[in-house]
Amino acid sequence: TEGGSDAAKRRAGERAAEAVEDGDVVGLGTGSTTAYAIDAIGRAVADGLAVRGIPTSFQSRRLALEVGIPLTTLDAVEAVDLAIDGADQVVDAPDARTDGALIKGGGAAHAREKIVDATADRFVVVADPSKLTDRLERPIPLEVLPDAHTVVADRVREFGGDPTLRDASHKDGPIVTDNGNLVLDCAFGSIEDPGELATRLSSVPGVVEHGLFVGMADTTYVGTDDGVEIREY
Ligand code: A5P
Repeated sequence: TEGGSDAAKRRAGERAAEAVEDGDVVGLGTGSTTAYAIDAIGRAVADGLAVRGIPTSFQSRRLALEVGIPLTTLDAVEAVDLAIDGADQVVDAPDARTDGALIKGGGAAHAREKIVDATADRFVVVADPSKLTDRLERPIPLEVLPDAHTVVADRVREFGGDPTLRDASHKDGPIVTDNGNLVLDCAFGSIEDPGELATRLSSVPGVVEHGLFVGMADTTYVGTDDGVEIREY
């Protein structure tokens, strides 16, 4: 992903991995920052930590297998203790209504991410300072059923948004998610009330999941040049 230094991402990811305790079921998010957490959990597993991971994408599954984290599935566990996941934007503002709200889905993995992150007893976000913002303003990714992409795009325009079907970079045509769906990136400008927009987007038939994560995060670890800043919500 663009922006943010690798060192900052690494600090955030490694700090989040330290929150994993013996016996935990851990949701494994997607993206370059979480990858550092997955690496670190893999090293801890090699040192004897007993955990089971639940991947949120093909990418995180492959990485977890590579570093030796035993995997499980949501339907095989009683609870998920902790989820660690990245974000494309994180609200860092005094307003408790929006503080910690996220945009996710830059990697088109937000549907599974949301299921796992929402299920976890504790959801920890890992980010670098380039992700922090007063207001969410990046386009919101919508995972949509392929048959519905034009009608969903029409509804998004009715809501004042500007939808773009996400194209693949190494294939002709649109990107296809791990779930076989398409992605509409929907620009709404600066979003004053993410909770209200989230409710609207969820109400549109054909939307599998949108990338607004509001009121879900418990903690954000922000990696910086010389340490980690912690936000609790
Ligand atoms: C995946 O779809 C996204 O939700 C990622 O979690 C997000 O893009 C963060 O990725 P980076 O850590 O690579 O910025």
